[in-house]
Formats: sequence, structure tokens, C-alpha cells
Amino acid sequence: MKNNSWGGRVVYQIYPRSFNDSNGDGIGDINGITEKLDYLKDLGISALWLSSIYCSPMNDFGYDISDYYQIDPLFGNLNDFDNLLKQAHKHNIKILMDFVPNHTSVDHEWFKKSRSSKQNSKRDWYIWKKPKPNGGTPNNWLSQFGGSAWKFDEKTGEYYLHSFDVSQPDLNWRNPEVVEEITKMMRFWLKRGVDGFRVDVAYQLFKDPFFRDEPDNPEYKIDKNSQYNSLLHIYTVALPETLEMLKKLHDVIDEYEDRFMVCEIYTFLKEIVNLYHIVDRQSFAPFNFSFLSLPWIAQNHKRFIDEFDEMIGDNYFPTYVLGSHDFPRIVSKLGENQARTAALLQLTLRGIPFIYYGEELGMKNRDIPKEKVKDPIALHTPGTGFGRDPVRTPMQWDDSEYAGFSDAEPWLPLETEYRKRNVQTEKQNKTSFLNLYKSILKLRNTKTSLSNGKYIKYFCKNPDIFGYFRRNKLEETFILANFSKEAQETELPNSNWNILLSTGLDRVEKIEKSTLTLRPFEAVILGY
Ligand code: NOJ
Ligand code: CA
Repeated sequence: MKNNSWGGRVVYQIYPRSFNDSNGDGIGDINGITEKLDYLKDLGISALWLSSIYCSPMNDFGYDISDYYQIDPLFGNLNDFDNLLKQAHKHNIKILMDFVPNHTSVDHEWFKKSRSSKQNSKRDWYIWKKPKPNGGTPNNWLSQFGGSAWKFDEKTGEYYLHSFDVSQPDLNWRNPEVVEEITKMMRFWLKRGVDGFRVDVAYQLFKDPFFRDEPDNPEYKIDKNSQYNSLLHIYTVALPETLEMLKKLHDVIDEYEDRFMVCEIYTFLKEIVNLYHIVDRQSFAPFNFSFLSLPWIAQNHKRFIDEFDEMIGDNYFPTYVLGSHDFPRIVSKLGENQARTAALLQLTLRGIPFIYYGEELGMKNRDIPKEKVKDPIALHTPGTGFGRDPVRTPMQWDDSEYAGFSDAEPWLPLETEYRKRNVQTEKQNKTSFLNLYKSILKLRNTKTSLSNGKYIKYFCKNPDIFGYFRRNKLEETFILANFSKEAQETELPNSNWNILLSTGLDRVEKIEKSTLTLRPFEAVILGY
């Protein structure tokens, strides 16, 4: 198996619209990211994933691509991008591009041709179906953004499939020309020097060739925000052909040195593990979103993580995610102290953590007033407060009018507490979120047991505490996390431990006793 450097890396996700605006138009851009490389290096991360920056009409903010080979002018141009890549590499920071192979924008030339006539050579690049005899949709498939996944197109009298917004028609991955064209595009970016891709909607590339109706989900409770969940997606999600295609796409990555591919896939643990085995490369990993759904209970985390790490095995790397541009901010979901402990776990577990920008500041969801809503999901479900804008607000650099993000009013409003929660103020506060992230990452980057040690299960007699060891030939670290709102005591295996770090950032001490009391929601890293 080819060796690569990714197992020891920490990835930071940037939502480029919201990170740093270099030219005063209220929208973050590539040069804005380049300006902040020193900040990122100092934070301790070693790779970036940039959410989509390709040309796009921005109905879904870049996840509706109209040209895979160009940068959207809002974000800059190819020279800016090359410069970012060069400067990032100087900082030993790798760059993963987003890669959106499931669908394009309706504005893409391919789709314009495809919809122009049934005889066009691009017709079969997308998924077109005749109406039912009564004129209805070809089957019951649903869009993840609400309503049917089929849109009738007057010009040629057929429906096209859109698993997301109606402006995002699905490509037909059963057409070899599509596969050929997409792999050509991957090589274009890999040759340019990008270090790999985060694959959007990787789990849904192939759809049932017979277009069968999907069955009802018996566990579904009526909820107009999640009509999509009313069906079991057995004919559209994680088909065997999709998993095989991911292996093929990964082979393209592997034509180049030390690249990486991470896939967006929502499925059962067993299928995730199966995918690791199908692709069978250290330079590949599916996302693991379990932290987002597990209840805040020590034993649930223990069970999942013990099992996950063991099933994956030492040849591959688990991933851990606390948030992204699609999910609520972790602090808003769990509370501040719990989120600090979740971060300590994420950054000390074996594998590759993905930090979403602003998580290191403890950024929260921001309620967006109706007139400022931008997310297509929110626009489809008006008045429900549903949508992803609340987690996409501008990065908080300082306490000035626009938080140091821009000289102009930002495209989304700032989080309401940004004046106290920003890079500038948190740098000065010894126990801030920012300093917690920096301290853990510093330890991770210096202690080899944390960056590359094995994960060793630990049975703690106190059920409110989840613990594990990280161990390699040279050293050992021991992590303990109290999930309860009360102080909890536990016995320690062995003696002579030191507390190297606590989530409170106020405790570095030698433990003299054979027991340790953890404060409410406190987590610690112990070592010798
Ligand atoms: C997942 C992306 O993360 C999300 O932001 C996007 O809307 C959908 N895929 C569709 O591309
Ligand atoms: Ca800008």
C-alpha cells in the first residue's frame, strides 16, 4: 500500500464566501484566504478543504457548477488560485478542492445542449425520462431540497432528474463519456498541484437503471422540512456501481504523489467500512458524521468509536467531523463546555479531523431575518427557520463593524456575539476556545502517540466517563472525558500520570493519587 502523509494531517474547512474578503465586496475570496495562511499555520492545521469556488450562478453557492475549469470571478481567478496553492504549500498546508460530480448547474454548456433537443449528443449526459401516460413524474423519487426530484422541461416534453435544487440537474454516470470528461477535469486540477478532493454527494452517483419507486420509510414522522426522509432511498443511494466508481475515481488521484480523497457519504457504519475496503488505499476516506447524531452520552460515544476504529483497522484512517456548511454549529447544539470536550475528543482520536472554520472560536448559529435568507433550502421552506445560512456567517476576526471580515456589509449578517468571540479577543484570553484548539493541536503535532498512535480501548468503571489510550512504540497518552454535568471521579490505571491539558486550560499538574476527579464536562489529556 502506497504511503502518504495524510494520516497525520488536520484538515480545516473553509467556506470561501465567508472566510475573508480581500476586495471589499462583502464576499470572501481566494486572496482573502491567502492573507490568512499565517493564522492557519499558527492554529496548527496542515490541510485545507475549500468549499466549491468554481464558476457558478450561485443558486446553491457553488454546488451548482457552470464551468469546472474556471474559478468564479467572485472568488478571483486561476492566477489567484495558483498563488494560494504555492503559498499554502510553502506553509506545508495541502489543499483539497471540492469536487461536485453528481450534478451541474442548468447553466452549464452540457446541460444547455442536453435540454436543447432529444437528438443532441449531450442529451444522454443527464437523466431524462418520459412523463407517465397521465403526464405525471416518472417515479416517486424526492429531491433533498424538497418536492419531486423530477422537473418537466417544456422544450422536449420530458422530465430531468435533480436530486437537489431544480437548478442542479443530475449527470448520467452510466454514460462513459461523462466518466471520461469528469476524470479529465480531475487531472486538470491535480496537475495544477491541488492535493486532492472532497467529493460532494459521492454516495449518489448511480441511480437504479429501472427507475423503480422507492418504498415508504416506516419510521418517518410527518415533517414538512424533511419530506425527503419519508422514503427509503434504496434505489438512489450507495448503489454498488457508485462504490465501484469511487474506486475508479480514486485511481485517478493515485496517479499523483501524496494526494487524498474524502467522500461525502451518509450510510450505515458497515457500509462505510465496506467502502474503505473496496477502495483500499490510505489516501482515501469517507466522512464520518457520527458526532453530529450521537446523543451526548459517554457510553454511546464509547460504543461507536471503539467499534468504528476496530472495524476500520490500522490500514485506513477514520475521519471525525463536528460540523460543516450543512450542519448546525456544535456549540449551539451541545453547549460551550460540551463542545470543548467534543473538540478535544475529535482532535485526539486516531484519524483525520475536519475542523469547520469558526469552530475554533466557538462560533454559534445565527438566526437569519427573513429578508436576508439566501440558502435555497430555506427559500423552499419559508418561515420555518430551516436552512444552512445560520452556520455560514462571516468569520470573526476582530470586534470592528464587520468583524474584520470585510470593509463592506457582508453577504450574510454576522453572528450576534462576534464582538466578544473573535480571533483578536480570543488570542488574548488564555482559556478561550481559540487557545484550546491551538493547545490541543500543538500537543497533537508534537506528541507522536496522538498523531499516529494506535487507538486502545479503555473500560472506565464510571459510566459517565469515556476514555481511551493512544499508543505507539515510543509513548502513550490517555484521554478521559466527563460527559456529565456533575463532577465525576475515576480510578486511574497505572500511576505517575501528568495532566498535560484540560479543556479548562487551567490545569497542568502531576497526579499524586490513584484517582482523578473531572469537573462537569471536563476532558483531559494525560501523559508521562
Ligand atoms: C452537499 C453539499 O455539502 C451541500 O452544501 C450541497 O447543497 C449539496 N451537496 C448539493 O451539492
Ligand atoms: Ca471579495
